[in-house]
Amino acid sequence: MKKTIPLQKRGIPASRLVLGCMGFGGGWNRNPVTADDLKQAHAAVETALAAGITMFDHADIYAYGKAEQVFGQVLRERPGLREQMVLQSKCGIRFDEGTGRPARYDFSAEHILSSVDGILSRLGVESLDILLLHRPDPLMEPEEVADAFSKLKQAGKVKGFGVSNMSPAQIRFLQSHLDAPLLVNQLELNLAKLDWLEAGVLVNQQEGAEVSFPEGTIEFCWMEQIQIQAWSPLAKGVFTGREPENQPESVRLTAALVREMAERKGTAPEAIVLAWLMRHPAGIQPVLGTIRPERIQASAEALQVSLSREEWYSLYVSSRGRKMP
Ligand SMILES: NC(=O)c1ccc[n+]([C@@H]2O[C@H](COP(=O)([O-])OP(=O)(O)OC[C@H]3O[C@@H](n4cnc5c(N)ncnc54)[C@H](OP(=O)(O)O)[C@@H]3O)[C@@H](O)[C@H]2O)c1
Repeated sequence: MKKTIPLQKRGIPASRLVLGCMGFGGGWNRNPVTADDLKQAHAAVETALAAGITMFDHADIYAYGKAEQVFGQVLRERPGLREQMVLQSKCGIRFDEGTGRPARYDFSAEHILSSVDGILSRLGVESLDILLLHRPDPLMEPEEVADAFSKLKQAGKVKGFGVSNMSPAQIRFLQSHLDAPLLVNQLELNLAKLDWLEAGVLVNQQEGAEVSFPEGTIEFCWMEQIQIQAWSPLAKGVFTGREPENQPESVRLTAALVREMAERKGTAPEAIVLAWLMRHPAGIQPVLGTIRPERIQASAEALQVSLSREEWYSLYVSSRGRKMP
């Protein structure tokens, strides 16, 4: 049975997989966007759409704004495309901007509002479907965020809001000042970084003291119908073909198991690693970081893969490198 994910339950036509756009625009440098960057962006968007991936994840900072800029160029050259997409971006991280001020987080209303204007202008669209606050800002004043959100909503610039890298306590605190539910929490979740599972499995165990993931985050988001999105879902390729330099034995063994399972199921290793995340009953939405057409296609095969409980556990146990407690 196909599971409906929280965003879909709220009537947002989100695809099961999201294409993350951090790699668009030629990388983290201040060079202008090139014709090759544009060609690569067209190919990635086209491959994603053909594979049924219609949701795209941006941030104002990606490639110093060039990721949104090149994506906007694609949209301008292909009118009608925007209507087929769910567009998400993020704000709240600032670099030093060459002014001698430190790189910092900024949830001030002034920054949120001006950041969204920048996002819309680079993407060349009238509105964003979802805006996320990128990383928790210790100086956040929730009333100010609420004010910025309602101005953006009233102006038709943003339809819905969410967060990234936040704990249940942080979400509850912010939510208590908002009049609409937060829709998304984007977190680093993958088969290499297992703390999101270990936090639940190691309750009442000494080993659990070393886990760095706020206990109950998954359950809280699931209960509140907050879409959990996984950033770095491919774990940067360590299980799917990237040379395992200086990786622990468990990574090598898990990569071999992923390969063997992919062969047995007649699919790509990427599909196994993503299907493993999607097998979790909370309905996790992986945000892919590749812009290579062949890897996007291989990833999209995850939509056809189902893993048994035993297969899911064999990958988990292999990656954790020891038996379940
Ligand atoms: N909210 C946050 O704080 C946050 C933080 C980071 C990222 N994100 C979002 O999450 C998305 C995904 O993040 P991510 O890029 O870290 O995720 P990822 O999908 O785990 O990793 C993709 C990266 O790994 C490389 N890779 C994958 N398989 C490979 C292989 N077999 N061999 C060599 N390289 C391989 C890709 O290179 P190729 O491009 O060559 O395939 C790409 O650079 C981003 O685009 C962004 O939208 C959010």
